[in-house]
Amino acid sequence: MSTRRQFLSQSSAALAGSTLLGASSWSSLAAAASERTMLKRTIPSSGESVPAIGMGTSGSFEITQGSPEYTALKEVLKRFFDAGATLIDTAPTYSNAEDILGPLLADAKLRPKAFIATKLSGVVGRDKGLAQFQKTLKSLRTDKVELLQVHNLGDWKTQLALARELKEQGKVKYTGITHYLDTAHDQLADVVQETKPDFLQINYSVTNRGAEERLFPMARDLGVAVLANRNFNDGKLFNQVRDKQLPGWAGEVGVTSWAQMFLKFCLSHEAVTAVIPATGKPDRQSDNLKAGYGPLLSAAQKKELIQLVG
Ligand SMILES: NC(=O)c1ccc[n+]([C@@H]2O[C@H](COP(=O)([O-])OP(=O)(O)OC[C@H]3O[C@@H](n4cnc5c(N)ncnc54)[C@H](OP(=O)(O)O)[C@@H]3O)[C@@H](O)[C@H]2O)c1
Repeated sequence: MSTRRQFLSQSSAALAGSTLLGASSWSSLAAAASERTMLKRTIPSSGESVPAIGMGTSGSFEITQGSPEYTALKEVLKRFFDAGATLIDTAPTYSNAEDILGPLLADAKLRPKAFIATKLSGVVGRDKGLAQFQKTLKSLRTDKVELLQVHNLGDWKTQLALARELKEQGKVKYTGITHYLDTAHDQLADVVQETKPDFLQINYSVTNRGAEERLFPMARDLGVAVLANRNFNDGKLFNQVRDKQLPGWAGEVGVTSWAQMFLKFCLSHEAVTAVIPATGKPDRQSDNLKAGYGPLLSAAQKKELIQLVG
């Protein structure tokens, strides 16, 4: 399937329950995203679709078992899966996040519904990578994961080869490579070009749009799915809009909060498969999930938002 067709197929997944538009432009298709069904995007390498609102565990899951934060996370996960979301991004180096996520999913019998994206992180050499992966499976109380990513390009040749080996063995469904800094975009792009993983993960927000230059067009051309991290610049974006009103057209795109606006901005780029905001607070989780419904932003709305947020 050509990559153009793959992206149109991504777009059409967003049209669940609505009429397929004759026009093939992204803006026309985006404008028709469903009011009732969470937006889904297609993983180009397989054709499988995933809900476009995911979540991260950095910070939010690095808490003590049995604490009030642990109880809150049960509700955070319940709301996530109740809304039809599935994709959770984590890492063995987010201190104890995997030891918290695993039991929470197992106790609520949610593991079968989850699309777990974890990482080979901060390790050098095949043996260390394999040992870390085995520990990850134990922590997550599972025998396989949906996505195994090489974290921040660390020892990437060896670790990507290992991830591919594990994919061959059926212990991993997809492979990927991540980073979170603008300064790493060029190196990440070179590695993606050379290795064509199933996924890349990179920072992307209304004020950090460097991924639009090389990474997103490359993902489109090569058929690589994209996870966008740091959609709130690690929370700093909320300070930037503290004294600002949402644009007058927010209601037209079904947006009632800045969190929804920031996530919708990211999802309005055709290359983004899913966003992965992190929160340990149930009401914020509900807020974030709402960005997966209703129309996406037009080019003019995106431009206005960029100027407004500054
Ligand atoms: N190299 C990599 O692979 C890499 C690097 C960075 C991040 N990531 C992934 O991306 C995920 C997200 O990145 P991130 O956690 O760095 O940053 P982020 O999602 O941009 O921001 C998280 C911050 O936003 C706050 N927040 C979340 N929802 C909110 C809402 N609705 N209203 C107001 N505040 C809200 C959170 O506070 P509360 O928790 O208090 O709600 C937290 O302080 C990570 O968890 C991780 O999975 C990967």
